[in-house]
Amino acid sequence: MTSAETVTTPPVPLTPDDVPGWFWKADQEIFSWMLTRQTAAGTTGDLMELGAYLGRSAILLGRHLQPGETFTVCDLFDSDAPDDENSAEMAMSYRKTLTRRAFEANYLAFHSELPTVIQAPTSVLADGRVPADSCRFVHIDASHLYEHVAGDIKVARDVLAKDGIVALDDYRSPHTPGVAAAVWEAVFELGLKPVCMTPEKFYGTWGDEEAAKRELRARDWRGDGYWFDEEQLAGHTCYRISWDGAQSTPTAAPAAAPAQRSTARRIALDVLPPIATRAARRALRAARARGAAPA
Ligand SMILES: C[S@@+](CC[C@H](N)C(=O)[O-])C[C@H]1O[C@@H](n2cnc3c(N)ncnc32)[C@H](O)[C@@H]1O
Repeated sequence: MTSAETVTTPPVPLTPDDVPGWFWKADQEIFSWMLTRQTAAGTTGDLMELGAYLGRSAILLGRHLQPGETFTVCDLFDSDAPDDENSAEMAMSYRKTLTRRAFEANYLAFHSELPTVIQAPTSVLADGRVPADSCRFVHIDASHLYEHVAGDIKVARDVLAKDGIVALDDYRSPHTPGVAAAVWEAVFELGLKPVCMTPEKFYGTWGDEEAAKRELRARDWRGDGYWFDEEQLAGHTCYRISWDGAQSTPTAAPAAAPAQRSTARRIALDVLPPIATRAARRALRAARARGAAPA
């Protein structure tokens, strides 16, 4: 390396919330709750994530990995996308910061071993390289374009073991109509049963939906400060869960006190694409640190 070359190394994250990404409190809690309850019930199986970005959700999934289980992550990272639309999506939202090396460094800040990493479009998973019926939990959060998500859902259906859970990101965001189309198509055409929903993610199963819901009902979400409600949806009872207080903040910034989001902030976070919401969150955090904005 010449002295003119500079290498910018991102800071080592001290907590998973220091890792950039889109994985918020209600979903962190639901992932942990479901995975912990599976393990407590003696349910074993592999874990898989499609779309890891810098590792924020993968780090939590890895914490629930039990001896003998495998965790597979599939992401393009710094590889080319398989089509122009996906390329545009990557350029718009992820390219500036995303490398496989950065993902691995973040992951290794919390775990002694990396997951099995497949650096490729998620469409390669249709070849059966992840065994059928092998997984207890699959997180789909890669491309948000309809054709990709529809394929990812079929992969999840094949690899999930009996009563396994699939979590689908951005199923209702204004900037991701393709995810909504693929999710509801899976519900009405492919037998996916809704279990619960947060503002960001849809959780479902092709197995025993009642078992999954029983596990959710076992917790007093309202008592723990969550909004929890029951919804009747096309013959299924499912739950809506959200956290309206502050999200966890990176350790570098002062922690904000729980508070209601303003209507304007809620709308902005719902409508803006991820990169813009991240910038908005950063600006808000900075303003808070200066005492210029309410929590
Ligand atoms: C929204 S981010 C994932 C966020 C992460 N799960 C988190 O919670 O922080 C989406 C990721 O999907 C990846 N991706 C986009 N299109 C893909 C494709 N066709 N195949 C594999 N990965 C893809 C991107 O590289 C990016 O890392």
